[in-house]
Amino acid sequence: MAIISDDNNFENQNSRQKNPIIKTESIEYDKTFENSIRPKTFEDYIGQSALKETLKITIEAAKLREKPLDHLLFYGPPGLGKTTLAGVIAEQMGADIKITSAPALERPRDIIGILMSLKGGEILFIDEIHRLNKVAEEILYPAMEDFFLDMTTGKSQTVKTLRVPLPKFTLIGATTKAGALSGPLRDRFGIIHRLQFYTIEELSQVIKRTASILDIKITEDGAVAIAKRSRGTPRIANRLVKRVSDFALIKFDGVITDEVANYSLDILNIDEFGLDTTDRAFLNLIIEKYDGGPVGIETIAAALSEDVRTLEDVCEPYLLQSGLLQRTPRGRKVSPEGYRHLGKKVENYQQSLF
Ligand code: ADE
Repeated sequence: MAIISDDNNFENQNSRQKNPIIKTESIEYDKTFENSIRPKTFEDYIGQSALKETLKITIEAAKLREKPLDHLLFYGPPGLGKTTLAGVIAEQMGADIKITSAPALERPRDIIGILMSLKGGEILFIDEIHRLNKVAEEILYPAMEDFFLDMTTGKSQTVKTLRVPLPKFTLIGATTKAGALSGPLRDRFGIIHRLQFYTIEELSQVIKRTASILDIKITEDGAVAIAKRSRGTPRIANRLVKRVSDFALIKFDGVITDEVANYSLDILNIDEFGLDTTDRAFLNLIIEKYDGGPVGIETIAAALSEDVRTLEDVCEPYLLQSGLLQRTPRGRKVSPEGYRHLGKKVENYQQSLF
């Protein structure tokens, strides 16, 4: 299986914006690291078991019928393995995959070019698909539905529409915001699935697998200690394994135990819930400056000098999922658990949501 990835875009465009939250090494480094540990088969892909079972059946049926797979849409917070899963599906179908992201498909010729370059049965993966512009979406509709490109030639009175056939391909779209997808685009996907946060047990398995690939020694307790602080997200777990392994090597005897993991993660300011300095500043600001909320996300972003989209896509999903933050019609509000987590007095908590 050949993976052709458009190097200029892909999944880290977000991290290039003002004040990215992901403050690890260079993007290129991260990408190489992620690619080196990406599972290639369903057996190696940990978690998302309900989705995996559905996909296995769908893939077998498509192979039996000798038909391409229905278009698939994966949504959920970043780092849960949407791109990885697309690669696994391609491998399982014995198909090539082209990987790009919506911001790289700005001009009509970008999307036309990529569609015309596809071979029969090939998979096209578009990350951040909610960011596709209207023109690109309209080019995509007939391509997804009938495998045609509607092209126009000539000007005003002499304009002609040409239907160019395309090979039968499968589009896999990924988004952190399913709600931001237009209805007509969403309707063209045969399967729409939300990826779930991972359990501690699943994350420990991811961590042990990564450690074994990277030749890092880790104990069972060490893996669990890192898993607990990984915000339910394999991408974070994998980064933490690397960070903690540096500490294990330099400060300890090279083995990641729970003691080594907890020591290192404390120094890295990642608390026992996996919150980092930005997450805590987010909650702290709402408590200290806005009486616990509700307060609008734009106000929070301005006060923290962060980008609204980064806060919404990277910070909030886990704070909401872990019950530390609540979303109300009038803005964000810290929950009693959020107060307790930051060691603040809960009696100051405003009961009313409105
Ligand atoms: N690395 C990132 N996501 C993974 C997953 N779901 N299973 C195994 N390794 C991973």
